[in-house]
Amino acid sequence: MNLDSLLSAALTSPLGTKALAAAGFPEATPLRRGAALPSGPLVLGVAGGGTLVSEALAAICLSAQTALIDGPQTRTKDEKGRDRPPAYPAKIGAILVDASRLAGVDGLEQVRAVLRPAMRALEPSGRVIFVAGNPATATDVEGAAVRQALDGIMRSVGKELRAGATSNLVQLADSTTSQQLGEVLQFLLSGRSAYVNGQPLVLADVATEPATSARIVVVTGAARGIGAAIARRFAAAGDRVVVIDVPAAGEALAGVANELRGTALQLDITVPDAGRRIAEHVASRYGAEAKIGALVHCAGILRDRMLANLDEARWGSVLQVNLAAQLRINDVLLDAELPGGIADGARIVAIASTSGWAGNKGQTNYAASKAGVMGLVRALAPRVAERGIVVNGVAPGFIETDMTASIPVIDREIFRRSSSLLQGGRPVDVAEAIVFLADPRTPINGEVLRVCGQLIVGR
Ligand SMILES: NC(=O)c1ccc[n+]([C@@H]2O[C@H](COP(=O)([O-])OP(=O)(O)OC[C@H]3O[C@@H](n4cnc5c(N)ncnc54)[C@H](O)[C@@H]3O)[C@@H](O)[C@H]2O)c1
Repeated sequence: MNLDSLLSAALTSPLGTKALAAAGFPEATPLRRGAALPSGPLVLGVAGGGTLVSEALAAICLSAQTALIDGPQTRTKDEKGRDRPPAYPAKIGAILVDASRLAGVDGLEQVRAVLRPAMRALEPSGRVIFVAGNPATATDVEGAAVRQALDGIMRSVGKELRAGATSNLVQLADSTTSQQLGEVLQFLLSGRSAYVNGQPLVLADVATEPATSARIVVVTGAARGIGAAIARRFAAAGDRVVVIDVPAAGEALAGVANELRGTALQLDITVPDAGRRIAEHVASRYGAEAKIGALVHCAGILRDRMLANLDEARWGSVLQVNLAAQLRINDVLLDAELPGGIADGARIVAIASTSGWAGNKGQTNYAASKAGVMGLVRALAPRVAERGIVVNGVAPGFIETDMTASIPVIDREIFRRSSSLLQGGRPVDVAEAIVFLADPRTPINGEVLRVCGQLIVGR
């Protein structure tokens, strides 16, 4: 056992956890994961009027579990002039704040009033979800300011919540239907969004379709870590997975493919004909008419060095694997005539990183590649919209995988505690977000969603 693993074992032992708690580093709460919804009732607080959220909850059959708290009613005072709390259930599973019609600064008081009693009543892994218009589409300056103010409230709430509870904001498109909003709320309420915290989810004006099963889903970098978790999650949803990884990882890759009854393609994604080889694999294994229903670019590498020590090889390999290969593969597979290429109405999801948002010491190459992925997502989405193809990204924070196991143990512990949830995420947390974005029912396009537990680095 080396010094690093000794330290790691000490820090995660019961004694180590106790010592950390005594030093002011509280223990992290295990997160509610999977499809499970909060166990306590949902509270719907309305600020500024509107019925969109209640209609969305009805669309996903959650009205019966919902107590409605109307914003203005909460403004009553007791005999000493203090806020009289509205009639909240003792323990709340989630509070949803419908601010979709909120237009003036004064109305923000209603948000405070409906939230305040909920902050202490929220169960572990509870949810605070704000629903509001998008500041970019407000018709007046005050309206835009108020919508943006909600983003600040949401992020601060995420930092104040405890015990695995999260806070997120859904920004509506003008065309968002109650059914579309319902699908997004379902994800946010469930344990599938366990590690999504402090994030705005920006909805797009995009046509959504009912769920389709047995799509062909291609996942790169799927021999282990996040890629393997993504493949598992798609297979569990009934999709047929094609898992790709370098020949050196062939054995592990075959293991994943066998476990999931999928097919494996040993391929270094940086070879010039990688796109053509993926299409050939799909057409030969699934039939000449077969097309890719979802493509997930997950393969990635780190070659960290301070820029003063960073050589051409470390620079080039990271940019090739993490960015250039994706660009080339997309170009080939997006040829509408190509057998085994990307289908009309398909979904592409690429993995970026919070390092691409914030930059990171020793990671100019990695941050360049991951910021590049975000640029790719935003630029490609409108260019393929005509074919109904939707493109999004996910930016994980600190996720417990072999890749991050190579980070020194003290740095790892600092990363974990730099998230509002006081812990690293699991590969399944990233996988859930990707499956959500790749779902034909999800009205999000051209966005990068952070799955980082509200890591302090970045926006
Ligand atoms: N783990 C984290 O905390 C974290 C955070 C942010 C982003 N990410 C990103 O998530 C993705 C997966 O990360 P992970 O932690 O699971 O890493 P990992 O190292 O465990 O897995 C990456 C996989 O990609 C494969 N791969 C590498 N180069 C390849 C190539 N040229 N062709 C085909 N496959 C190749 C590897 O063999 C490996 O199986 C990466 O893009 C990474 O940058 C991870």
